[in-house]
Amino acid sequence: MQRTVRLSVWLAVPFALFVPTLSALAQSALGGGGAPSGGNPLALSYRTPDPARGQQVSQSCQGCHGPGLVSRDPEVPSLAGQHFSYVQFQLAVYRAKLRPGPVMQQVAGKLSDQDIADIAAYAETLQPGPAWKTESAALRVRGAALFHVGDGPRNIIACAICHGDDGRGNNRLGVASITNLAPEYALEVLHEFKNTPEFGVPHPNAMRIALQPLTEDDLKAVAAYISSMGQ
Ligand code: HEC
Ligand code: HEC
Repeated sequence: MQRTVRLSVWLAVPFALFVPTLSALAQSALGGGGAPSGGNPLALSYRTPDPARGQQVSQSCQGCHGPGLVSRDPEVPSLAGQHFSYVQFQLAVYRAKLRPGPVMQQVAGKLSDQDIADIAAYAETLQPGPAWKTESAALRVRGAALFHVGDGPRNIIACAICHGDDGRGNNRLGVASITNLAPEYALEVLHEFKNTPEFGVPHPNAMRIALQPLTEDDLKAVAAYISSMGQ
């Protein structure tokens, strides 16, 4: 519960930065702690990102995120094949202490703008890890239907509308690739998005709105399905 509340705080951040008229709202949601004071801590400055250097800089990440940034730990997300825009943004918000997570805040606190860009460029060149097929086939079939088709009578939009039929998301739109997350991690992230309060504006609300009509069984089914996508 506490985690949910804290996640909602960092979801408010883009508004504080990019939508000045809404900054008052976001500021009050931030409760005075961690709000950027002048300047934009998420506007990074770097030369052309260098994936080879990113590989070097990310050696220290592999103990947790796995060799080749493919995680087999259900608590740690894979980064292999994740989009540049998504990785870059997440590292910037951790470094600015706007996304909770003491470990990642500390890790990101040691990275320069160039390190962040190079790591994001490196992660994007990697093949996503193998699929997780640990959950029941019936659950995955149910999840697949919700993912690709949705459920009109229950107002469930197909996840594929934003994440694509292959689940690989969209770099330009900042839509995460979601194919190689562990089912446990995927379910936890879905809970957080679903339980986040409303901010009344479209973008960070996208996931929250998409998940409102889903029951707990639906969430388990889509989590099982997305983690099984890929080879
Ligand atoms: C001690 C373990 C540990 C180390 C070392 C570590 N991470 Fe993480 N990282 C995590 C965990 C756990 C999470 C998930 C956090 C959560 O659930 O809030 C995470 C989350 C992330 C995310 C967000 C991914 C998403 O899908 O939202 C990124 C990006 C990331 N780490 C990058 C890195 C990079 C780059 C490094 C090395 C410079 C690194 N991490 C080192 C444990 C670690
Ligand atoms: C309207 C567009 C939209 C729809 C529909 C949508 N998503 Fe998302 N999703 C996003 C965006 C954008 C992000 C990146 C986080 C953010 O900016 O809010 C995201 C993030 C995620 C993440 C987090 C990835 C990570 O690494 O932590 C998961 C998991 C996810 N979506 C699963 C789903 C599932 C399952 C559905 C269908 C039930 C769905 N999404 C429907 C737009 C959408």
